[in-house]
Amino acid sequence: MHIGAMTSGGDSPGMNACLRAVVRTALHHGARATGIMRGFIGVAGPEAELVPLSTESVSNILQRGGSFLKCGRCPEMHTEEGQERAAQRLREADIDVFIGIGGNGTLQGLLALLPHWDGGVILLPGTIDNDCGGTDYTIGYDTALNTALEAIDRIRDTAEAFDRVFLVEVMGRNCGALAVGAALAGGAEEVIVPETPTDLEELAGRIIKGQKAGRGTSIVVIAENDDAGSAPQIAEWLKSHHNLETRVCVLGHVQRGGSPTAQDRILASRLGAYAVGVALETQGRIAAAIGVRDDKVVTTPLAEAAKQAPCASAELIELVNELSR
Ligand code: F6P
Repeated sequence: MHIGAMTSGGDSPGMNACLRAVVRTALHHGARATGIMRGFIGVAGPEAELVPLSTESVSNILQRGGSFLKCGRCPEMHTEEGQERAAQRLREADIDVFIGIGGNGTLQGLLALLPHWDGGVILLPGTIDNDCGGTDYTIGYDTALNTALEAIDRIRDTAEAFDRVFLVEVMGRNCGALAVGAALAGGAEEVIVPETPTDLEELAGRIIKGQKAGRGTSIVVIAENDDAGSAPQIAEWLKSHHNLETRVCVLGHVQRGGSPTAQDRILASRLGAYAVGVALETQGRIAAAIGVRDDKVVTTPLAEAAKQAPCASAELIELVNELSR
């Protein structure tokens, strides 16, 4: 059995821990392991970039953010030509099962590869966005959540000192999970996510009402890609329509870096080891997403996982609102 593994899309803390688990489990069972550099670029790009992996290749990476195989977004995978090239390179390298650690884009890439290749494919959910089907949590979400939370705690200190309204923008692509988690844990007064329409008049009304009732500080957590716009745009709107002074902090890529939390390392190790077990058991005849549901590792057919569109929990959004009243 020859396993190929890549990290694709945006990096997330815990990808290295996951690669370590894949490689070491594979080698332990007498399989070979090869790394594909820069996500799909390593097979669909201009030149194949494949590296043999040993126990030593994955030494001392468990605790590191980023990905030692590097990440990449590969426009070629949107074309038949690129998909065929990727399949051909995997065949030439004699790979039996191709493991992609990444988010939704990676899932779509693996699905697109299937008609061109008869080897196995496995998605391991690795993204800070927590937006993958087939799992309750993605590798990297917990670390990013804690990073965003630490920032919000710090922002609250200075916000309180000035009785200010702060708009804090967090990542998440089209999913508000990270924003809602950070808002709830950070005691934010408001949370704004793409899953629900945003009424800026209502938002302004609630902030002003709070101020009149003696609440000086408000922290509004805003998920990127909200229908009302970015945090700077919302700040401008509040100023021009209600003369409401705010400060903006866009957390950005700082949320993607850093050493993975214990929870992310454990999740990454469990999923990576399990994926290799499934690859061996099925002798490579597999097309699935592997994730965790109710703390149990589960396998979901890839096409099925693609249909699930996880989004921010309505229950948690409600709780943020209830607790900030
Ligand atoms: O998918 C991870 C993510 O960090 C998203 O939260 C964000 O929208 C995007 O990647 C940013 O991508 P890039 O690093 O290419 O700017």
